[in-house]
Parts: sequence; structure tokens; C-alpha cells
Amino acid sequence: LRIHPFLQALPKCEHHIHLEGALSPSILFTLAARNQITLPQDDPAFGSPESLLARYDRFTSLDDFLHYYYIGMSVLVHAADFEALAWDYFQHAAEDGVVHAEVFFDPQAHIERSVTYETVLAGFTTARKRAESQFGISSELICCFLRHLPVPDCISTFELEAVQASFKSGAVIGIGLDSSEKPFPPEMFQEIYHKAEQLGLRRTAHAGEEGPVEYIKNALDTLHVERIDHGVRLADNEALLQRVAKEGKLLSVCPLSNVLLRCVTAISELPLRKFLDANVKFSINSDDPAYFGGYVLKNYCAVHDAFQLSVKEWRGICEAGIEGSWCGQARKEEMF
Ligand code: HPA
Ligand code: ZN
Repeated sequence: LRIHPFLQALPKCEHHIHLEGALSPSILFTLAARNQITLPQDDPAFGSPESLLARYDRFTSLDDFLHYYYIGMSVLVHAADFEALAWDYFQHAAEDGVVHAEVFFDPQAHIERSVTYETVLAGFTTARKRAESQFGISSELICCFLRHLPVPDCISTFELEAVQASFKSGAVIGIGLDSSEKPFPPEMFQEIYHKAEQLGLRRTAHAGEEGPVEYIKNALDTLHVERIDHGVRLADNEALLQRVAKEGKLLSVCPLSNVLLRCVTAISELPLRKFLDANVKFSINSDDPAYFGGYVLKNYCAVHDAFQLSVKEWRGICEAGIEGSWCGQARKEEMF
């Protein structure tokens, strides 16, 4: 894989990165030791950071990945742990030429381990401020709900005082929906998305990663999402593809993730040429960079190697990313 200096220099916005997915095996082992968290003894992958990294090359599905993802994040306990995790991500983002990042986090996965929302938010906020002052990277936080957990659990998390306060203050600008996709269609989460809409929050959801194209339609119709995360299955329905193009809704595509989790067998199989030709806007993202073999620039380079996009097409992709971001207009103009 060649690293393209042109792609490094483009003003890149990242819209689909789970901060918990930026937990590298080396930080994972360090925090496990410091926080006295016992990693599974019956899985040889947890023998060392190296063996864990090697296991990440052999994911068989989204759920196979999620198994490791949830065990991994169990080492995050203190605000300083969340800060270290986010700081590690922002350092990579700076190296890769990211100017703006809208990052996901999974509060339910921490609250269920008795780590408070305030702890998580405090760590991330410190890292974000430092990324802004040291690298000039602006960022926003998006709170994701885990679709494999009971809906009432999602609603009670949404209603927590600390969560509501983070929406009100603007510390968290929107909501997302992630985790196992297939048996949990978007419409199950209507209530929470309607509450979010009433509060004026931004809304996105994972749809059409492993799940069918109908999930994309349902996310648009029943959750009133403004973006679709992944959305690669959109290519399966021409009418919906035309609608998404017309409405100018952005897809946050994650090429290396889609290959590693076997949603496609190669980057070249992604319908990116179709999206460009139909004027469907998309951004390119890393999803869970510590698990999928690379940060955002590696995703750009892999797309370029597969599709040989023109300079004009690359500029168009980055402009769509800026336009589809949820920061203020003044910040957008600085990024162009
Ligand atoms: N899909 C669903 N849930 C996730 C993902 C993903 O790619 N990454 C982290 N949680
Ligand atoms: Zn994701």
C-alpha cells in the first residue's frame, strides 16, 4: 500500500470513528495491568499484545469483532484512561491530516461496568481540548446506543441526568446507533430518536453494514437520521440511492472495516464508483482503527489504490465531508 502525500494533505473530516475502537493492544495491556482487570484466560489471543493483534487479522463477522471490542474496553476505568485513549486517536488523526473529527462513544458499555458517564466524558473532553490547542483539530462527540441491549435500557441511559446535561451544554451534539446490526432493525429505536429530534440533537445510525438495504430506508423514515453510517448496501436499491443523492444525506463509509469484517471481499467491491456517479455523498472513515489495521489515511490510500480517483474527485469527497459535518458554518469555511 502506497501512502499518497496528496491524500495526507487534503482537509479530511472523520465522521465514523468509535473512540473505544482506537484502543490499541499495547494500551489495552498497559491499562489492564494498571487497573487489575483480568483478561480472558481461556483465549490464547489474550496472551500478549502481539497475539491479540494477530487475532484481529482473522475476524469472521461484525459479532466476532464486537466480542473483542467489548472485552477490550473493559480495561477503561478512570477518566485518565479515556483521556489516554482519545489522545492516542487524536495523535494519529493529526499525522493523517484530519482537520475535524466527529467521534462516537458507547456510554452503556461503561455504565454497565459501573464507570460513570461523567468519568467517560471528562477524559474525552480533556483530550479533545488538547487536540484543538495542539493540533488545531476540532471535534464533536456523538453518543451511541447499543442496539443489542433492551430498548428500555437505551431509553433510561438517554434520560440520565448527566447525559441530558451533556446534550444541553453541547458537550455531546448528537446520537448514533451501533453494535450487532442484523436482528435489531432501526425502527426499534424510534422513541429515542424522536426524543433526540425534539431536543434538536443531530442524528445518525449504523445501517446497511451487515444488515439489508431496508434498514437504511427505515433509518431515514422512522429515525429521521441526517447521516447513515456505513450504508454500503444502498447500492442494492436504485430508487433509494437516488433519494439519498437528492436529499444530500452523507454516508460515512469505512472501507478497511468492511473488508476486515467480511462485508465485502475487497475494497474494489465497494460501490464507491456508483456513489460518485449518482452523486451520493460519502466520507471515508476508519471505524475502529486499532482493530482494522489502520487509521483514516490508510483508508484513503486503499480507496485510491482500488479506484484511481481523480484529483477533482478527491477534492469533491473532502468538500462533501466538510459540508456534511455538524460543526458551525464558520469552522466549515476555515476547513475549505
Ligand atoms: N458496527 C457496529 N457497531 C460497531 C462498529 C461497527 O462497525 N464498531 C464499533 N461498534
Ligand atoms: Zn462503526
